[in-house]
Amino acid sequence: MKIGILGYGTVASGLVDIIDNNKDKRDISIEGILVRDVSKHAHRKHAEVLTSDIEDIFNKDVDVIVELLGGLHPSYEYLKRALENKINVVTANKDMLAEFGGELVSIAKENGVCIKFEASVGGGIPVLKPLIESLEGNEIDSISAILNGTTNFILSKMYDENLSYDEALKQAQELGFAEANPESDVMGYDAGRKLSILSTLSFKKRIYWKDFYLEGINNIEPKDIEYAKQLGCKIKLVGRSKINNGKVNGYVRPVLVGNDDIISKIDNEFNIIVVNGDFLGEVSFVGKGAGKDATGSAVYADVLDIYDHRLNNVDAFIKEKVDVDKVVSHECK
Ligand code: HSE
Repeated sequence: MKIGILGYGTVASGLVDIIDNNKDKRDISIEGILVRDVSKHAHRKHAEVLTSDIEDIFNKDVDVIVELLGGLHPSYEYLKRALENKINVVTANKDMLAEFGGELVSIAKENGVCIKFEASVGGGIPVLKPLIESLEGNEIDSISAILNGTTNFILSKMYDENLSYDEALKQAQELGFAEANPESDVMGYDAGRKLSILSTLSFKKRIYWKDFYLEGINNIEPKDIEYAKQLGCKIKLVGRSKINNGKVNGYVRPVLVGNDDIISKIDNEFNIIVVNGDFLGEVSFVGKGAGKDATGSAVYADVLDIYDHRLNNVDAFIKEKVDVDKVVSHECK
């Protein structure tokens, strides 16, 4: 199978390593890697296929385009063109899915191809596929989650090592967890986008991220962490959404979580997603929510789905948006 990769940042380099490592099992040929400045990447693996011209990727007759550029534009235009040209798409781009997911899924279906996005939620954790396939028989009525590795890392370092907010953020950036603009992480936008993707898939209704109440961790100070410790709690950036009689509500915000709650045990860049299904009860997905290898692994899983001809799309994205109640509760669970 022939693929083109758009972008050569942290996640793309993880993907390239996994493809190379599994060469004897799956024959996936990297035909092109789109970068802004070829000379900057000349020392890297697969330098011979680097290009700064998107036409080179489209001219290679690839089976899959993997979009790891991030941001809305030109990612959206490239992916729309790919799908219209009957090229399958894999992306980790939460921002773009949140805005254009419905339109892109529709175009994919019209053209008999697919758009896959496992890496857009929970980094390396396989969560979307189980939600779509393995939990099909369950009605899911609630999601509780830690969905951002950067902020969980910052809060963990502030709690465990008394680091300041700025020191911990700097470490998260150095480790490749943070978004290009870390405002998305610390203001709760990244977690909000992920919660909207999860809620759309779980509740089978189109839910827009800005309709959730969103509050970040940018105002958390060492004294807040200290008070939380005294209460036998941790502060976690928690996303919750629920559906009740067809009405959806939800939020992303810092929450005091009791030390005996499973969510409080998820530290550093790890994420957790707890969903409640009517037959199954609660099920949790835990793993690394950010970082090169973990997220590269989720992208690779999507590429393999296409390799093995599993080309299903997520219909819930095409539905009309539903109203969401912004709910803020102050429980210390
Ligand atoms: N910036 C994101 C995070 C990367 O910290 O979780 C993974 O989506």
